[in-house]
Amino acid sequence: MTLNETRQKFLDFFRAKQHAIIASASLVPEDKTVLFVTAGMQPLVPYLMGEKKPPDGARLADAQKCLRTDDILEVGDNRHHTFFEMLGNWSLGDYFKKESIAWSFELLTSKDWFGIDPAKIYVTVFEGDASLGVPQDDESIEYWKEAFASIGMDASVENGRIRMYPKKKNWWELPGTGPCGPDTEIFYDTGKEHDPSFGETCHQNCDCGRFVEIWNNVFMEYEKKEDGSGGYVYTPLAHKSVDTGMGLERIAMVLQGKETVFETDIFSAIIASVENKDIPYAHEERRYRIIADHVRAAVFLISDGVLPSNVDRGYILRNLVRRAITHAKILKLADDFYRAPIERIHTYYQAQYHLLPTEEILSVIQKEYSAFMHAFEKGMKEFHMLSEKVRATEAHMIAGKDAFDLQQTFGFRLELMLDLAKDAGVSIDEKGFWEEYKKHQEVSRAGAEKKFGGHGMKLQTGELKAADDAELVKVTRLHTATHLLQAALREVLGDHVRQRGSDITAERLRFDFIHTQKMTDEEKKKVEDIVNAHIGEALPVVHKEMAIDDAEKTGALMFDKEKYGNTVSVYTIGNEENAISKELCGGPHVDNTKEIGHFTIVKEEASSAGVRRIRATIA
Ligand code: ALA
Repeated sequence: MTLNETRQKFLDFFRAKQHAIIASASLVPEDKTVLFVTAGMQPLVPYLMGEKKPPDGARLADAQKCLRTDDILEVGDNRHHTFFEMLGNWSLGDYFKKESIAWSFELLTSKDWFGIDPAKIYVTVFEGDASLGVPQDDESIEYWKEAFASIGMDASVENGRIRMYPKKKNWWELPGTGPCGPDTEIFYDTGKEHDPSFGETCHQNCDCGRFVEIWNNVFMEYEKKEDGSGGYVYTPLAHKSVDTGMGLERIAMVLQGKETVFETDIFSAIIASVENKDIPYAHEERRYRIIADHVRAAVFLISDGVLPSNVDRGYILRNLVRRAITHAKILKLADDFYRAPIERIHTYYQAQYHLLPTEEILSVIQKEYSAFMHAFEKGMKEFHMLSEKVRATEAHMIAGKDAFDLQQTFGFRLELMLDLAKDAGVSIDEKGFWEEYKKHQEVSRAGAEKKFGGHGMKLQTGELKAADDAELVKVTRLHTATHLLQAALREVLGDHVRQRGSDITAERLRFDFIHTQKMTDEEKKKVEDIVNAHIGEALPVVHKEMAIDDAEKTGALMFDKEKYGNTVSVYTIGNEENAISKELCGGPHVDNTKEIGHFTIVKEEASSAGVRRIRATIA
């Protein structure tokens, strides 16, 4: 079943259940306080709140264009993409949990519809939350039992088919105010073997990749309002509504039996249309996926009236196009590499969506390409001069400041420079690069705040590089997580643990430390729990410059005293007297551990004799 056929089946199913099929709203929301539509319910908020009467009746279904850029750095792994379609069905004060659950089950499992083996379906429900005053969702548990029982299957909390989770997982709301409520999520069991480094037991929300979330049914029963003192209160809504969301690309992946969305029909077609057989997809999956994702997003954005610029939506589009071009350059694709995929995308989607004529889309991209190339070629020359220069030195390393200047002047991204450096047989001081970046960012932020009284961030988006900012934020969070990790390892394994090396990218941290034995699952779990507990405690991270001898007296961890200068920079996490961690470090770090997010150890292995290596991520 192709992606187009999957969308059609979904809409046909809900039409048969007396839903009016409505057209997708534009990616650019009417409510201009947000950049893009990120969920199918967004254009329907006034109906969900009961503020407006829906002209098409109380039962609606659609496929809504959505764009999310928070995960832009993850695009290219098996799950993330920026543009996607969200399939949804709504009851606006009409049916509620019973029908919603029964119909979801029918569409997914009936041989007349999606025909998924019911044994592969697992669900989650809300366990309740005293602070919200909302009880456990027993009704949904009952309706799920009924749904499975209708085909002779025994589903229960006890046998794990139904599992309860707290607010963090099973409560849905938009950031800010609006309608919200508990949800029930439906997962597909890929049958993959559970990776024990994610914990002893596997369950619906486990991050090991065995279960894929395919559908979210939200039971909108509350309104989230500002409480007047910076917090929120939740009050019951007069009309109870249902809001469901199913990622079309995700369900198509499941129905096509593929491991990643990029192997589904539309993405394989886009990728095949740009592939350079000398640098094939099989060797460069991530770059081809980024190109496919970003070009597709650009086609939809341009069709909804967005043009490349230095602010707001235009800036996001510019970033997507330039990232695609950068990867195309690394893959040595032709100058008009975007033509074939744009034509494919156009042909594929034109029956469903209003898209601008191909020639118009091409002309927008062509213009952006020329503008970018002008700087790009100059930047290439400059880069080659720099690499020649450092090749004559012992270190073979381009200084962070030089790399940063290249980025500022020619729009060169670090990822591009790292690739070029590899080809040129030199390296780049990445740490130095990020230090420069942070300095610059602080300066432009301070300037902006002075100019616009605190609202400068928004007005100066032209100066801010959204994707790079996201990358810096991630790197910064991982830096602080590394300090917490070292402290936790010392607590669990002993004080002999000492850093031997550390390497941080926007995706993960890698930490090498002195320890002879393989860590047990229990030890890994303990370390993770300690790190996450400190994150949960929202501890301050304090930075101080001091003389190295004074730093030594405070007991700050340092690894090779000879290596440091006279004045050093010390980062302390927690209270000075009772610090969780105190280390000499160049930073950058977050101001408070709560900014880090959830910490997970992905792998623990031997690095060299007496040295172990941990890879970890944050989400
Ligand atoms: N609004 C819900 C979501 O986006 C359905 O997941």
